[in-house]
Amino acid sequence: EDAERDGYEHYMLKEINEQPNALDRTVSGRIGNDGSVSLSSFPPGTFADVRDVQFVACGTSYHAAMYAREHLIEMGVPAYTFRAGEYATAPAPADEDTLVVAVTQSGETADTLQSVRHARDAGARTLAVTNVVGSTASRECDDALFIRAGPEIGVAATKTFSSQVAALSLLGERLVEDVTGEPSPDRAERGAALRRLPADVQRVLEDSPVAKLADEYRGRDAYFFIGRGVGHPVALEGALKFKEITYEHAEGFGSAELKHGPLALVTEDTPVVAVFDGRHGEKALANVEEVRARGAPVIAVAGEGSRKVREIADEFLPVPDTHPDATGVLANVQLQLVSYHVADLLGRAIDKPRNLAKSVTVE
Ligand code: G6P
Repeated sequence: EDAERDGYEHYMLKEINEQPNALDRTVSGRIGNDGSVSLSSFPPGTFADVRDVQFVACGTSYHAAMYAREHLIEMGVPAYTFRAGEYATAPAPADEDTLVVAVTQSGETADTLQSVRHARDAGARTLAVTNVVGSTASRECDDALFIRAGPEIGVAATKTFSSQVAALSLLGERLVEDVTGEPSPDRAERGAALRRLPADVQRVLEDSPVAKLADEYRGRDAYFFIGRGVGHPVALEGALKFKEITYEHAEGFGSAELKHGPLALVTEDTPVVAVFDGRHGEKALANVEEVRARGAPVIAVAGEGSRKVREIADEFLPVPDTHPDATGVLANVQLQLVSYHVADLLGRAIDKPRNLAKSVTVE
């Protein structure tokens, strides 16, 4: 087993470090110099009849779906995310103009499969975005887009989140062009950022200060993760990973929700991890001020050029400056490292956290 871990102490750390290669495979050959998308199974016009998009997914895959939705709604494509556990028992209305996208690493999650079956019965078109060729989701859906991340052993999903986001970004651009008739105005910049993503992730991995910080922040009452835009799904994902492998209490919130309840929990003993996607500067800074006023230590993750964020935060986890849609993936890599190093210091069973399974095949 040691050999399979390539000398890493845990599969999770190995898989975190595999992300540049995984992302390379995800985007390789699928994106032109002008940002145009080439997905062999989905030529231009494939989705011309789609009116609305419904994502169904669980866990980390749900966060990747939330991330993908941001671009679609910004470009005017009606898109909705559903937790498959809920959709499976209360499916949303869908018809032949609906594209239901099942985002599932394994392709075997029972609730996600059940959601797809409802969608198919309603006449919707179904598409699986999955890592596993031949999986049930890939066979049962009308179409499949493979994220090509390679096998993931650690129960906590890491590299597959990054590859899901990248694959969904490609799919998203195809949808925008087919549904609205126009490419995204920043298609070239988005494409360039995606092509650069493997190298940018490599820089985060090489330069991350997290291993040195983890000790200072362990053993607190609770940990909160906040963000706006794509920073919101990344905050949720950061909190999910943290609770899964450290067993500490962690919650993620959209920053806008802070005032509606979570702020009551914020104290000097609740570090707040704030994710900045580079798009919502002033409002995101105001949210950080709110938690600072309650004495909470702030750990900010943002583009390295974000001077104001750097000034206001107690700890600053920089990522290379890039297009906001790529910033979230880079920020998430820092958060993966936060969870990993805190869990490691606490001596947790990182690759096989208690009570959890890699693939949940019961409803
Ligand atoms: C389980 C795993 C998670 C995963 C989720 C969905 O809860 O522990 O890591 O995100 O299932 O799995 P899927 O294979 O559908 O992406």
